[in-house]
Amino acid sequence: MLVSAQEMLTKAKAGKYAVGQFNINNLEWTKAILLTAQELNSPVILGVSEGAGKYMCGYKTVVGMVNGMLEELKITVPVALHLDHGSYEGAKACIEAGFSSVMFDGSHYPIDENVEKTKELVAICKEKGLSIEAEVGAIGGEEDGVVGTGECADPDECKMIADLGVTMLAAGIGNIHGKYPENWAGLSFETLAAVQEKTGTMPLVLHGGTGIPEDMIKKAISLGVAKINVNTECQLSFAAATRKYIEEGKDQSGKGFDPRKLLAPGFEAIKATVKEKMELFGSVGKA
Ligand code: 13P
Repeated sequence: MLVSAQEMLTKAKAGKYAVGQFNINNLEWTKAILLTAQELNSPVILGVSEGAGKYMCGYKTVVGMVNGMLEELKITVPVALHLDHGSYEGAKACIEAGFSSVMFDGSHYPIDENVEKTKELVAICKEKGLSIEAEVGAIGGEEDGVVGTGECADPDECKMIADLGVTMLAAGIGNIHGKYPENWAGLSFETLAAVQEKTGTMPLVLHGGTGIPEDMIKKAISLGVAKINVNTECQLSFAAATRKYIEEGKDQSGKGFDPRKLLAPGFEAIKATVKEKMELFGSVGKA
């Protein structure tokens, strides 16, 4: 059964580790992530962007697929199904469809409007027992064609949003989605520490988990990050393994182009990436 992310994040925060959010795009990714979490006895959050939701035939299809897998694969570790960077309407649609967690990304609104809309969604999620993530300070890079500029969040604005009763808060600290440029200045630990100081025990979320050096990940966790999002790294490993398989001509083995064979190396690559991240984040054995 899907669970809210509340309990797993409270435990992560207390135990000084982070739960990974891995974005899903299709059946293979979802299965690879769930099986790895189960094998490593780790809690996990499945992230779904609005674009990926559309690609997978809508939120109801995603809920049906994930719930089916939890049962058929006998998954017993805590799993949250979470809307990633949701709009106000998207968050409502996911709540309706059966997601156990949503992110409302109101970071592009003026702060008062972000507060208003977050407040309304917090009330709905509270009533239904769902977890909710809010964002302050845009996270840079490109996601689903939307390019953010990347900025450091204002700690006072973070407090305003945290005080609304959100479960977790994504605060921009110089992190960006996708690959980091050569001249990237690194994470602003000063901002992270200031945000945590203002928000007390609020679990903080680090977006753009791909390509952040290990020492920075560990330091971010020590300063209050309890959830780390990874998407691009799974895309890269999936694509590389699939490409290699095709280039080696193995999918032309006389059986035609069996999709189950074609996607198998990518499936294994995602499992390996997820395992590596769970070990780094410290969530192994914490289910
Ligand atoms: P990356 O694509 O950089 O791993 O970021 C994922 C993310 O933050 C999803 O919200």
